[in-house]
Amino acid sequence: MPIRKYRPSDNEAVYKLYRRQTASLPFHHNVRRDQFGSDLFTTRFIRNPSHHHAKAKIGLVATANNRVVAFVSGGLVLKGDEVVSAGTGYIQAIIAEPSAAQAVRDLLPRVIAHVRKYQPKRMVAFDGCMCPSFFADSAGSLPSRWAWIGQCLLDSGFRVTDRGLRLVNQFDKTRRKTAKSDPLKLLHVKHEMFGVDPKYDFGCVLLKPPYKYGDGVVWCGNFYAGAFVKGAAFRSLYMNYFTIIDDTYRGKGLGRLVLQHCLYEAQQHGARYASLLTDVDNFVAQNLYQSEGFEVVDNTHSFELKKEKKR
Ligand SMILES: CC(C)(COP(=O)(O)OP(=O)(O)OC[C@H]1O[C@@H](n2cnc3c(N)ncnc32)[C@H](O)[C@@H]1OP(=O)(O)O)[C@@H](O)C(=O)NCCC(=O)NCCS
Repeated sequence: MPIRKYRPSDNEAVYKLYRRQTASLPFHHNVRRDQFGSDLFTTRFIRNPSHHHAKAKIGLVATANNRVVAFVSGGLVLKGDEVVSAGTGYIQAIIAEPSAAQAVRDLLPRVIAHVRKYQPKRMVAFDGCMCPSFFADSAGSLPSRWAWIGQCLLDSGFRVTDRGLRLVNQFDKTRRKTAKSDPLKLLHVKHEMFGVDPKYDFGCVLLKPPYKYGDGVVWCGNFYAGAFVKGAAFRSLYMNYFTIIDDTYRGKGLGRLVLQHCLYEAQQHGARYASLLTDVDNFVAQNLYQSEGFEVVDNTHSFELKKEKKR
């Protein structure tokens, strides 16, 4: 099957493939046409160009009868974040119909070989192909509904590193109000996460007296969430880093308190649903989420390229 470099004029064809591919998912952000082209190459979480640090980016298409049937892109993270360290090579997007799986298998080694020239510390598969929203929402994990993509990655030398669950809360099913949190203080934080406009990004933390940040203050809640996707058809709350850091405060109702507050705040900000990823064996968190109206919508998988055996 002929393989060539992606051209901007391929955008429309690849976008159509993407729409068809994501149609099989129960929930995803509707990425607009104009956003789509650049998102095919950017590293995950990072929308703001000033936060964008990747090199060795490559995008290839496979064609049949001059028609694009598959797209694969990848690159190297130059400056890492707390999830992906600098020097990580990545497969960014795999966009194709299941019937073009062989084309994906043909493209993958070419992208991997290109990125390997830049000596990545490791090579992972994430984002576009894994992330229907092209954003933090389910980044780094491939829905089991796209098992054929997972199979292409396995056939190209990747292995599964993590298994998780994707949960979604459609707010029409839960409408709870904030509870009181005395003597702990619930602090509302606005900040910029992963290049998202602070206007859309908020989090909540619980503080113990004397209620201030910095050394010496015990954080009994460190929930921060937010990330309303600007320009997406549906605003949503993506929950990230939900943890009660001091474990002596766990199991006392604080997690539920902060979660309810964030869900409430999100609705006040116009979010239509909330979503999150959790480990497949994190039953404590799953109990909490499900009792607050979240439902499991898919199993997810993260991938890493197996190390080459030294001869
Ligand atoms: C998950 C976490 C945030 C929950 O916060 P928490 O304050 O401990 O939970 P709560 O006391 O509010 O309990 C809420 C619900 O969680 C579940 N739960 C809490 N502790 C549990 C336990 N030991 N075993 C089973 N379920 C438990 C229960 O469903 C509980 O509801 P119930 O009290 O009506 O039975 C907290 O335990 C934590 O920080 N865990 C480690 C980090 C983590 O796993 N984060 C989630 C990432 S996706």
